[in-house]
Amino acid sequence: MAAYSSVVSSILFFFFFLFLRSEAIVPANETFHYVNEGDFGTFDSEYAPTYRPIPPFTFPFQLCFYNTTPNAYTLALRMGTRRDGTVMPWVWEANRGKPVSENATFSLLSDGNLVLADANGQIVWQTDTANKGVVGFAILSDGNVVLRDSEGNFVWQSFDSPTDTLLVDQTLSVRGGPLKLVSRESITNNVNGVYSFVIEPKRLALYYKNNMRYWSSTFPELERKNVTIINATLVVAESEYEENNFHALRCNLQNGQFFEFPDLGLGQVRYNSSLSYLRLGIDGNLRLYTYRANVRGNAWSLLFTLFDRREEEFRMDFEDECQLPNRCGKFGLCEDSQCVGCPKPDGVFAWSKDCDAKLPGCEASGFRYYELKGVDHFTVKYTGGIGPMKRSECESKCTKDCKCMGYFYRTDNSRCWIAYKLKTLTRVGNSTHFAYIKTPIS
Ligand SMILES: *[C@@H]1O[C@H](CO)[C@@H](O)[C@H](O)[C@H]1NC(C)=O
Ligand SMILES: *[C@@H]1O[C@H](CO)[C@@H](O)[C@H](O)[C@H]1NC(C)=O
Ligand SMILES: *[C@@H]1O[C@H](CO)[C@@H](O)[C@H](O)[C@H]1NC(C)=O
Ligand SMILES: *[C@@H]1O[C@H](CO)[C@@H](O)[C@H](O)[C@H]1NC(C)=O
Ligand SMILES: *[C@@H]1O[C@H](CO)[C@@H](O)[C@H](O)[C@H]1NC(C)=O
Ligand SMILES: *[C@@H]1O[C@H](CO)[C@@H](O)[C@H](O)[C@H]1NC(C)=O
Repeated sequence: MAAYSSVVSSILFFFFFLFLRSEAIVPANETFHYVNEGDFGTFDSEYAPTYRPIPPFTFPFQLCFYNTTPNAYTLALRMGTRRDGTVMPWVWEANRGKPVSENATFSLLSDGNLVLADANGQIVWQTDTANKGVVGFAILSDGNVVLRDSEGNFVWQSFDSPTDTLLVDQTLSVRGGPLKLVSRESITNNVNGVYSFVIEPKRLALYYKNNMRYWSSTFPELERKNVTIINATLVVAESEYEENNFHALRCNLQNGQFFEFPDLGLGQVRYNSSLSYLRLGIDGNLRLYTYRANVRGNAWSLLFTLFDRREEEFRMDFEDECQLPNRCGKFGLCEDSQCVGCPKPDGVFAWSKDCDAKLPGCEASGFRYYELKGVDHFTVKYTGGIGPMKRSECESKCTKDCKCMGYFYRTDNSRCWIAYKLKTLTRVGNSTHFAYIKTPIS
């Protein structure tokens, strides 16, 4: 009897549930259908595109279709207001890498799905929120684009799908959420680039091509074995004195209740503004910009640069531009943020954009190594390498590996780094750090 009634009640519950869901349609006045057509906007926007603003606007955020190559539009959220001399940045994008054409449509359907479709009707991007109780759409004042249910919960939010930009109060999570920012390929080409900023259980890290780490945070708290990062949020952190409030990427920890939150400090708040954004740039650098309301001229001000030309006083974790993989292009020696040399088998020559290592080929009999003393690969500083091992062992790993362009070796701790891309080498003035670069025997 008990089993019978529980079956009946679960069937009833099922129908009740279906009924609820089919009832939850978006009120007609909340649905919309915008077409990518008509006049272009005239104010300066990032990447100097042509663009068409569409109506949804919440100060200072507006949705637009923009393109940097004809007829290849991205639907994106722009931050800023019309003002002379201000270039307004794109802080969220729906369809990077999947552009739409003239007459594409952006619609909130009555079933609650938010859909970007090309002119021929093909769906290019959607929120997959049909029949999930959506009753309305909004751009919130912090720049989060949301679909809400009747209780005000977010069925979908743009904060869960960042591209290369994080806004204040936006979070990257280690698991089950957005866990990285990915750079843009170039100003004209809006596809994923080679750099990513990733939240991991033990660190915040920057990668070149997904697996070559060129920077990571140093949080001593996390060296305790059972403490890990859950997520990291861009915050405006308060301090005792209001003038000392600062921007930070604040990490929440698991089992970390007895510790302070590890923070990546991103510069003091100026202009009393919390309209700021953190950007993983096309060049792989991390920068924080802040918005100055009520000024003439450019409203965006650069507050923080992770890899900086100038060494700032009081910054403990200073990194110069030499740590950027592409600072000296395909190959080059870097010192104090400048490209200072092009290493060749017979010496170091003046650097130019053409500086490159010759392809060594696969056969061990066809190449040899030349040595550089006192240099690091961009992966050396923030990774442990492999080993300890003898230098000959490190060399033989590289020799056997066709894709290896050279190897890096430290005689003080006998660690070995295999390099598949050479890119920027940093002069470290440390006689225990060596590079061995493959070169064809001609
Ligand atoms: C739609 O109508 C409801 C009820 O009149 C109103 O509360 C709501 O603000 C309207 N929505 C829009 C987007 O105008
Ligand atoms: C867009 O649609 C309008 C109206 O249907 C049409 O006149 C126009 O030619 C279309 N534009 C393009 C580029 O297809
Ligand atoms: C680590 O944390 C987990 C989750 O709180 C706990 O169950 C476990 O006992 C901890 N392990 C150690 C070695 O402290
Ligand atoms: C981040 O982690 C904290 C601690 O577990 C949690 O309370 C918070 O909801 C998380 N934030 C997001 C946006 O997931
Ligand atoms: C900063 O802005 C907030 C909110 O706009 C305001 O309440 C506060 O008084 C301002 N502080 C200063 C020092 O101007
Ligand atoms: C060279 O590296 C060793 C080991 O990391 C370190 O102890 C030493 O201080 C470094 N010397 C210089 C000049 O940087």
